[in-house]
Order: sequence, then structure tokens, then C-alpha cells
Amino acid sequence: MANSAIASAGELKRHLFYETSHSPALADLVGYEKARDIIDFCFIANPYYPTPEMMRDLQQNLPNLIKSYPSSSPIMSQQNLAAVLHVSPEKLIIGNGATELIVLINTFLIDRFAVPIPTFGEYIEKLRDQRDAELYPLDPQQCYELHLPKYLRWIHQRNLRSALVINPGNPTGQFLPLDDMVDFLNAAADLELVIVDESFIDFAGDPIPSLMPLAERFSNLLIVRSMSKHCGVPGLRLGYCYSSNLYLLNRLRRFIPTWNLNTLAEYFLSLLPQTDAAYHEARKRLMGDVRWLHGALQSIRSIDVYPTGANFVLFKVNTGMTAAALQARLLEDHQMYVRDCSNKVGMDDRHIRVASQGREKDARLVDALRVLVP
Ligand SMILES: Cc1ncc(COP(=O)(O)O)c(C=O)c1O
Repeated sequence: MANSAIASAGELKRHLFYETSHSPALADLVGYEKARDIIDFCFIANPYYPTPEMMRDLQQNLPNLIKSYPSSSPIMSQQNLAAVLHVSPEKLIIGNGATELIVLINTFLIDRFAVPIPTFGEYIEKLRDQRDAELYPLDPQQCYELHLPKYLRWIHQRNLRSALVINPGNPTGQFLPLDDMVDFLNAAADLELVIVDESFIDFAGDPIPSLMPLAERFSNLLIVRSMSKHCGVPGLRLGYCYSSNLYLLNRLRRFIPTWNLNTLAEYFLSLLPQTDAAYHEARKRLMGDVRWLHGALQSIRSIDVYPTGANFVLFKVNTGMTAAALQARLLEDHQMYVRDCSNKVGMDDRHIRVASQGREKDARLVDALRVLVP
């Protein structure tokens, strides 16, 4: 083991891990300095964007930005974002990460709402009342696949008024094609609110198979997207929601704190229009890496690899080893940190999620797995 401060399996468990459904940040586990020596496959963010030029630009402006107040009006930021999304700025709300918006949506827009599990934890943890979420367990025997018509039947049987779909799913990576989503939304027109979280949709295809250009057709649709993943800026805390329903947006807007975006995040948004071509290049490059990673993982006999439309891959370990044990071995023997999904509600203890970190690092992960679970 290269690093004595790296946690053992037992230490990992005692750590933040079982107190929240998120994986602890690597720096929390081993400190900032040691974290640099470990490849973090939990980190689900585009490694090719922002470009090095953008990073230099951000660095150069940092002292000024730190000493300035953010804008008290979100309109400039909305315009910058709308320019690259090709949508109307007034139909966007930008949040301090999608998580800020999810908490507000959960608190102010939702009564009882359907959530397929396993899911991204914030949707079921940050509710006014845990009973507000009705959990729809996905079947492990069916690879946790979400079947939209069955889901909708279940929603109607329970008279639920709102529902969540994450597309592509986290942690499964399952991608639901645009036509299926449109059929679902047509059939769900009687619901008050359908939240579609498209945080990973930019990796699902080209052109991007998003509902955003079709949002005008569905007045109950609220699209949520994190920018942490596709723009590769989890530390800046940027996410947004989009809807054609201005009434819905205004209900949310009232609760967005003034200055919720920091100056560095605002400045980053101002760079989006001029770097859009570089963004799409980075996005497509990462999609190629994920295809490679997925194929290479499939060549390992003792793991079952799930299809993915995201920038990560979920797999199941079939050797009798738990995901927690494999996670610890990868950390201790290979200085690689992967996501053990055991603490996700509705998931068993055999699943690991790995986000692509670029071809070279991904190849090292595949080599390590060939040693540990041949
Ligand atoms: C599906 C999904 N939505 C939203 C988020 C929140 O992202 P952030 O708050 O970093 O924008 C995440 C983070 O992992 C996610 O997986």
C-alpha cells in the first residue's frame, strides 16, 4: 500500500460513507495532499472541459472576482447559458448546483411524489417529510431498468400527482430514448409535475437527445440539470432548471437567495458562448472514452456491465466479493477510488460505479480490475 493514510475497508465504513448516500470526497478521506496521488473514479465530471485556456482565464481573474460581489440579478447569467442551450433565458433558473434547486423543488413544489430507486439521494433525502416520496423499487433481476409505461401505471394506481425520471439514470446509467420520454410525457399529462433530471444527457448522444427543445409541449415538465458533470465544474456549484411553465418557475424563483451564484461561477458562465465549440468537442471525446471503458469492462468475465448513456459505467461483481471489499482493494493496492453503491437506497451490496477519467486512467482501472476480479 503506497499510502498509510488511505483508509482500510473498515475505516471507510466508519467514515462519512454510511451517514450520507453520497460517497465521501477523496480529500475528506485522505487529505488534500494525498488525494492527488489517487485516481478518483467517483468524480463524475468531464475531464476535457473547461479548456486549459479557460482555466488560465479563471485563474487570472480570481483575485478580482473574490473581491467583488456577484450580480444581484441573474439575467446576464441566464442569457449566457441560454445562448449555448438555444432556449429562452427567462425560462431558466440557475442554481448553486442542481442540488440547491432540487431542495427548493422538493420543499415548495412537491406533495407526494414518485421516485424510482436507486436514485440520486437528494431527491429522497431533502424532503419536508420523508413520507412525501413514494419509492418505486427497480428490480435487480431486470438490471434496475426503468420501464416507463409500467412506472406510469404504478403512479396512476397510487394517485400520485408528481413524478421523477432521471435520464440517463444515476447510478444505473440507463438511457431512455427521446421518443419513449415523449410518449411518457404525453401519457402523464394529467400529473401536476414531472421532473426530468437530465444531468447526464449531454453524454447520451449527438445531437443531444434532450427534452429541452420540446419543453413547450408539456406544461407540467420541469427539466433539472447539473452543470458539474457535463461542464466539468463541480466545485463552481452550477445547475439549472428549465420549463415552459412560467407560473411554476415563478413559484420557485421566489425562494432563490439573492447572490446564490458566486462571482467565479458567473464569470465561467460568461465564457460559455465563446467556448461552445470546444465544449462539444470535449463532450464527444469523453463519449468516445466511455464507449472504450464500457467495452473494456465487458471483457472482464467476473463482472456484469450495465449499458450506459452517461459518462460513468455501473457494474456488478460476480465473484462473491462485495463492492465495499473491491473498493478497498482498489484503493489500497492500486490507489484508485471507485463508488461502492451499497449505501444507495434500493441497491444491493455488489455494485460499483466508475466515471471515465480519460482513456489512459481508465485503462489503468481496467488493468487493476483484471488483477482483482479476473
Ligand atoms: C442525477 C443528478 N442530479 C443532480 C445532481 C446534483 O449535481 P450538482 O448539485 O453538483 O449540480 C447529481 C449529482 O451527482 C446527480 O447525479
